[in-house]
Amino acid sequence: MKVVTVNLGENSYDIRIGSGLLPSLGQGCVSCGLTGTAAVVTNPTVNALYGDAVRASLHSAGFSVATIEIPDGEEFKNSATLNSVYDALIEAGLDRKSFIVALGGGVVGDLAGFAAATFLRGIPFVQVPTTLLAQVDSSVGGKTAIDHPRGKNLIGAFYQPRLVLIDVETLSTLPRREYCAGLAEVVKYGIALDGSFFAFLEQQADALLAMEGECLAAVIKRCCELKAQVVELDEKEAGLRESLNYGHTLGHALETLAGYRSLVHGEAVAIGMALAARICALRGECRDDDVARILKLLGSFGLSVTPPAVERSQLLDALLKDKKSRGGSINFICNQGIGKYAVAKLSPEELLALSGLGG
Ligand SMILES: NC(=O)c1ccc[n+]([C@@H]2O[C@H](COP(=O)([O-])OP(=O)(O)OC[C@H]3O[C@@H](n4cnc5c(N)ncnc54)[C@H](O)[C@@H]3O)[C@@H](O)[C@H]2O)c1
Ligand SMILES: [Zn+2]
Repeated sequence: MKVVTVNLGENSYDIRIGSGLLPSLGQGCVSCGLTGTAAVVTNPTVNALYGDAVRASLHSAGFSVATIEIPDGEEFKNSATLNSVYDALIEAGLDRKSFIVALGGGVVGDLAGFAAATFLRGIPFVQVPTTLLAQVDSSVGGKTAIDHPRGKNLIGAFYQPRLVLIDVETLSTLPRREYCAGLAEVVKYGIALDGSFFAFLEQQADALLAMEGECLAAVIKRCCELKAQVVELDEKEAGLRESLNYGHTLGHALETLAGYRSLVHGEAVAIGMALAARICALRGECRDDDVARILKLLGSFGLSVTPPAVERSQLLDALLKDKKSRGGSINFICNQGIGKYAVAKLSPEELLALSGLGG
């Protein structure tokens, strides 16, 4: 087992990473000082696969267990679902000595985390992420949220888990498309923050695609370390945390415009990173062969780098609405070579012109 500690003073916690860790969840909760009832928040898909193992482990460590299912899908990451979780927590008699276990991908983690942050003014929670995206990104760092009809993640809180338990074996049942989309976020860490990690990904691309356990655990560990470093320096997202938005400005806009699930998040980020790399070459911040390496690695992970056809005016609108644009300019994350990022202030019009999108 590998352990990464996120050092945030009294809010510090461990991320445990390895193959076959689910049966150790109960003991992990005990060693974090958790008590009482464990409310496992999950969805029917993940519950059917891993619910029994999680419940058995919690029971054998002496916890009472309640299971709360929410429907599967981003469209249910909303206040109606959150209210149903509060109802179920009250029904199950949860008190402030009890805790929540978020078992699932980023949707479950974000919503269950926000429920934990707010129920009885905050009860402890544990993340058991089961998608690659959740294991390398959303379960670490303490951002919890639900969506609002006017926008994604508009209602939320910074609230750290007590423990993150990552069993890489759970990825074996993940649809291939979701797995590859998660790899886009993995590549992001390499481009924005760590050039030797990027080179490691190039060497290990086949092992990663084959989901070799050791390689996967090493890669997830490095992503968690990088995210932890960023979060430790910038818990509440005042600056440095922006580096993790690499590829996300254009990616997000394309994700919104491409229509429901024609691009999943990681796929849009892959396109956004390819565009960002080309833009940075145009601006002289990286070389053409850096761009070529980035495109090649994304391609070897089965990620397309071809943007969907979009209208200029719609793209401009989407960029203007991006909550990361302030005072008319966008903090665009650039790659300086591979492994180092910088922030460029660009107007949406400048960014569009550099991207070559929208005709
Ligand atoms: N809090 C953060 O810092 C942060 C960061 C990035 C993304 N997010 C959020 O994460 C969410 C996306 O997360 P996601 O990509 O994990 O999507 P998701 O939670 O919707 O999971 C994707 C699909 O995989 C299924 N699934 C999960 N684990 C599985 C497994 N082991 N085997 C088989 N199927 C499995 C799920 O049921 C779902 O259908 C978005 O809501 C996004 O806003 C949050
Ligand atoms: Zn992302």
